[in-house]
Amino acid sequence: MAELYDIIIGPENIEIKVYLLEEEHIDRVYAMEVESYPDAWSRELFLPEINNRAGKFFVFFIEENLIGYSGYWLGGDEAHITKFTVAPPLRQRGLGTLFMNYLFEQVKKEGAKKILLEVRENNLPARCLYEKMGFQTIGTRIGYYVRTRENAVVMVRYLNDDIDEEHI
Ligand SMILES: CC(C)(COP(=O)(O)OP(=O)(O)OC[C@H]1O[C@@H](n2cnc3c(N)ncnc32)[C@H](O)[C@@H]1OP(=O)(O)O)[C@@H](O)C(=O)NCCC(=O)NCCS
Repeated sequence: MAELYDIIIGPENIEIKVYLLEEEHIDRVYAMEVESYPDAWSRELFLPEINNRAGKFFVFFIEENLIGYSGYWLGGDEAHITKFTVAPPLRQRGLGTLFMNYLFEQVKKEGAKKILLEVRENNLPARCLYEKMGFQTIGTRIGYYVRTRENAVVMVRYLNDDIDEEHI
C-alpha cells in the first residue's frame, strides 16, 4: 500500500488524498492518460516517475477514486511540469486550479523560482487555466507533439510570493 503523502481540502471541504506515484497506481493513471491525451504517454513512460529523485509525481484520490495526477521535474531553480490531468467527469469544478496551486507550493518548497510547461497549441481548456494562473507564453515549439504534429506553446510562471496571493 502506498504511503499517504499529504491531504488537501477541495471544493465543498472534500478531503483529497495525495500519494507519490507507485506501481499500484499505474493502471488507473494510464487509463486516464489515454482518455485525456491524443499523444498519451505509454505505460512504460510513467515507470521512471516512481521514486524519481529529480522531481515528483503526484496522484490525487477522493476515497479510492483517482481524480487526477500531476508531475514535475526540477533542474536548478526551474520546475518543469510533465503532466497535469483532472479526471474527465470532474473537470471545470476548480480541481485544476487547486492542483496547480498545490504544485506551486510544492516546487517553491524545493527552491524553484519559476515553473515551465508545454501545452498543445489547440488545448484551449489548459491554456485558459494556465493563463488564469499567471503563466505567460514565451515561445512555440513547432511540431513538438510527434503523433499529432501539433505545435507546443511554452509557458512560464515566476513564483513570486506577491503574485501568488492573487491566485490562492
Ligand atoms: C486542463 C485541465 C487540467 C483543467 O482542469 P479543470 O479541473 O477543468 O480546471 P478548473 O475547473 O480549475 O478550471 C480553471 C480555469 O480553466 C479554464 N478552463 C477549464 N476548462 C475549460 C474549458 N473546457 N474551456 C475553456 N476554459 C476552460 C477556465 O479559465 C477556468 O476558469 P473559470 O472556471 O474561472 O472559467 C483539464 O481540462 C484536463 O485534465 N484536461 C486534459 C489533460 C490536459 O490536456 N492537461 C494539460 C496538459 S498541458
